[in-house]
Amino acid sequence: MNPSPSPAGATIDAAPIDVAPIDVAVIYGSAREGRLCDTVAGWTIARIEAAGGFAVDVLDPADADVARGIDGKDPAARATLRARIARADAYVVVSPEYNHSFPAPLKALIDSAKQEWEAKPVAFVSYGGVSGGLRAVEHLRHVFAELHAVGTRDGVAFANAAGQFGDGRLRNPEGAEKAAATMLARLSWWASALRRAREFTPYAKAVA
Ligand SMILES: Cc1cc2nc3c(=O)[nH]c(=O)nc-3n(C[C@H](O)[C@H](O)[C@H](O)COP(=O)(O)O)c2cc1C
Repeated sequence: MNPSPSPAGATIDAAPIDVAPIDVAVIYGSAREGRLCDTVAGWTIARIEAAGGFAVDVLDPADADVARGIDGKDPAARATLRARIARADAYVVVSPEYNHSFPAPLKALIDSAKQEWEAKPVAFVSYGGVSGGLRAVEHLRHVFAELHAVGTRDGVAFANAAGQFGDGRLRNPEGAEKAAATMLARLSWWASALRRAREFTPYAKAVA
C-alpha cells in the first residue's frame, strides 16, 4: 500500500493501524452456582473470536486463582491477577444485574487493581430481567471512570436473558450479533488509540 501525504508534507503509512492483536480480558460478573454468565460470556467470546484481531484472556471471579487474587491474603496470587489486568489493552465486562446494580464479586475483582485499569477502554455485555442489566452498566461506568478507564458507548444488553438463551443458544441472534460487531469495532479503535497513546506518553505523566 502506498503511503499517503499528511497535511504537513510527511508521509503516513496507510496500512492498518495495529498489526499486533488487542489483548482483551473478558471479565465475568457473576460467581453464582448455576449462573447464566457462562452462557452469555461464552457467546461473547465467540463473537470476539469471529471479529478477529483480539487475543482473549478470561478473568472469572469464580476461578480459584482469580478468587485468591481477589481475596488478597496471597500476595503472589494478587500480583498475578494484577499482571493479567495490566497485560490487557481492553476489557469486556459480562455482567448481570443484581438489585439494580452489578454483583459484589465483580466489584471485588475491579477493586483488586488500580493503575492497571488506567487509560484503557471497557465495553459492556449485560443481561438480566426487563432492564437487560443496563442499570448495572450505568453503575459500572461510574466505577471505571474513577479508575481512569474509558467506558465505551456501544454494548450488548439482553433483556429477559434466560428466555433469550433458552437451551444455551441465542434464539434470535441477528440483532445481538450486529450490536456485538459494533461494540468490538469501537473497542478495537479505542484500544489501538490508547495503546499508542500510552506508549507515547505514560498516563502517569498526565499530571499538572
Ligand atoms: C440477587 C439477585 C438480584 C437480582 N436483581 C435483578 C434486578 O435488579 N434486575 C433484573 O433485571 N434482574 C435481576 N436479577 C435477575 C438476574 O439478572 C438474572 O437472573 C441473571 O441471569 C443472573 O445472572 P447469573 O445467573 O449469571 O448470576 C437478580 C438476580 C439475583 C440472583
